Amino acid sequence: MIINWIRSRVLKYIYEYYEKKLLNEVRKGKMPEHIGLILDGNRRWAIEMGFSPEKGHEFGFEKVKEVLKWCWELGINIVTIYVLSTENLNRSKEELDNLFRLAKIGFREILENPEIDRYKVRVKAIGKLEVLDDELIDLIKKAEEKTKKYSENKLYIAIAYGGRTEILDATKKIVEAVLKGELNINDINEDIFSKYLYTQGDKDPDLIIRTSGEERLSGFLLWQSAYSELYFMDVYWPEIRKIDLLRAIRTYQKRHRRFGR
Ligand code: FPP
Ligand code: MG
Repeated sequence: MIINWIRSRVLKYIYEYYEKKLLNEVRKGKMPEHIGLILDGNRRWAIEMGFSPEKGHEFGFEKVKEVLKWCWELGINIVTIYVLSTENLNRSKEELDNLFRLAKIGFREILENPEIDRYKVRVKAIGKLEVLDDELIDLIKKAEEKTKKYSENKLYIAIAYGGRTEILDATKKIVEAVLKGELNINDINEDIFSKYLYTQGDKDPDLIIRTSGEERLSGFLLWQSAYSELYFMDVYWPEIRKIDLLRAIRTYQKRHRRFGR
């Protein structure tokens, strides 16, 4: 018993020391301005822990708040979280009900959470929002309205989001603008195109992190991720620690970003 207690104290001390060391190291380098997070492995984590899959999303939801705070403390200005893909909409009704319930709690918390005001975070939902229920759409609008005064930090919440759908939606808007005579076809270039995306020409992600060991983007920010550094980690989303995030940033800082040059 006493041995276990000593062991846990020692481990805690080592962990804290390592976290501080990493933090100092990372603070000396160039911080990514925009990070994309693919929050994967929630159900697998829950099953391994002996919980129901829904519990995985509940723990995952709590972890989102923790990780966002780490990002804001580090001075990362834009964070995009992949909460629900268009493919995820085919999951069982029970699972979707639980995810939408959590999303509602999340947007309600944005309206009340002092951290949003403290870090001056502008919130924007991106995706096929029209497929969501009226209550959720209303909460999203309220959260966006309440935070539109902020420009310091930005949080994009990708919900009912698909990268191909986003590109198709942008294409339709561009065709409409051309037909109305508001846009000349010869003026369409990458810059103009990106302004028609849900992210409206905002800075592309410098770094995209996916948890759970899966190594693919699953349509996440399909256009915007063209030159992003990708970092895949084996840990499941609910168990991600600050040292995992710091290691990802350290790896990003060590990689030489050349944009094809
Ligand atoms: C992927 O894990 C994650 C999701 C489909 C949903 C992620 C949503 C949350 C963590 C909670 C909602 C958060 C907010 C901010 C509203 P998975 O279900 O695919 O798990 P698996 O890969 O282990 O099967
Ligand atoms: Mg998954």
